[in-house]
Amino acid sequence: MALLSGKVAVVTGAGHGIGRAHALELAKHGASVVVNDLGTSVAGDGADQNAADLTVALITERGGAAVSNYDDVSNYDGAHRMVAQAVETYGKLDVLVNNAGIVRDTAIWNMTEADFDSVLKVHVKGTWAPSHHAARHWRERAKAGEVFTGRVINTTSGAGLVGNFGQTNYATAKAGIAGFTQTLSLELYKLGVTVNAVGPAAATRITGTMPGAPAVIEADDVPEGEWNRMDPAVSSPLVAWLASDESQHVTGQVIRAVAEDIVWMEGWSEGAKLSNGGQRWDAEKLGMQLATDLFKTRAPGLRY
Ligand SMILES: NC(=O)c1ccc[n+]([C@@H]2O[C@H](COP(=O)([O-])OP(=O)(O)OC[C@H]3O[C@@H](n4cnc5c(N)ncnc54)[C@H](O)[C@@H]3O)[C@@H](O)[C@H]2O)c1
Repeated sequence: MALLSGKVAVVTGAGHGIGRAHALELAKHGASVVVNDLGTSVAGDGADQNAADLTVALITERGGAAVSNYDDVSNYDGAHRMVAQAVETYGKLDVLVNNAGIVRDTAIWNMTEADFDSVLKVHVKGTWAPSHHAARHWRERAKAGEVFTGRVINTTSGAGLVGNFGQTNYATAKAGIAGFTQTLSLELYKLGVTVNAVGPAAATRITGTMPGAPAVIEADDVPEGEWNRMDPAVSSPLVAWLASDESQHVTGQVIRAVAEDIVWMEGWSEGAKLSNGGQRWDAEKLGMQLATDLFKTRAPGLRY
């Protein structure tokens, strides 16, 4: 039986780039897919139904099942329609891949309020709103006594995990998505739903905005069986496995998939600790104590 046989998936932002690759991969492994895409520019302007429709055409030409959805992921009612469409068309929702995204890169002194707000809205609210509606669908099924598995697969980025110049809006959003992933995994696990985040890397419209970037590759540009390190499909096998029942023991994790490497991100963890024996710290003495005992640096007047 195919890895995702009988599964119903929603993939957001699946009209271009990495999302289209995920949708094609999930369909290849037997899932029925709601292909969501607003069809915006890379900065989030405009709308175009051709983006989602092209992905649906590629899936159906290859014998898969897919329908288009043109809603804005960051619109509360739109996100609800998207989940409802999966249930109305295919009877349920098993897998939600939150992938839609935009960028408006520039150093913080040039970044406008609109650049900040729009990027946060698409990535953060555009991950929260579909997850919220999917969670309500799963909770109803669990309350009715159904035993099932569900999946949320979010999209983070190296910018959010380790930082990148010119992306204070995007990095904030992507770090937020990593934090959201950890908390939502705690809330949904008892329902049988796992929540993980994938950090991809590919030559898409998004990277195409950066100076010296490689030419944009769309998901169907690289022929089946050929290897290209910047193919938007590089992270899709990981997404397909996370979408499957085989990954039930994996939740709350952040995993980067860059070319041939799959990297488990260990995230924030406690480092060295300094305790003041139940006493309040003294700000005037604290610097020296931190320098000598925590950071182990040579502060002025260092005592040994
Ligand atoms: N390309 C990379 O190297 C890279 C690296 C790390 C993370 N990512 C993330 O991967 C995801 C996919 O990006 P991509 O590189 O494939 O870019 P892309 O521009 O090719 O695809 C993004 C898609 O999202 C859609 N979209 C944008 N706003 C939307 C909205 N409000 N509602 C519905 N659809 C919307 C766009 O129309 C587009 O089709 C993004 O979340 C991005 O941040 C990309």
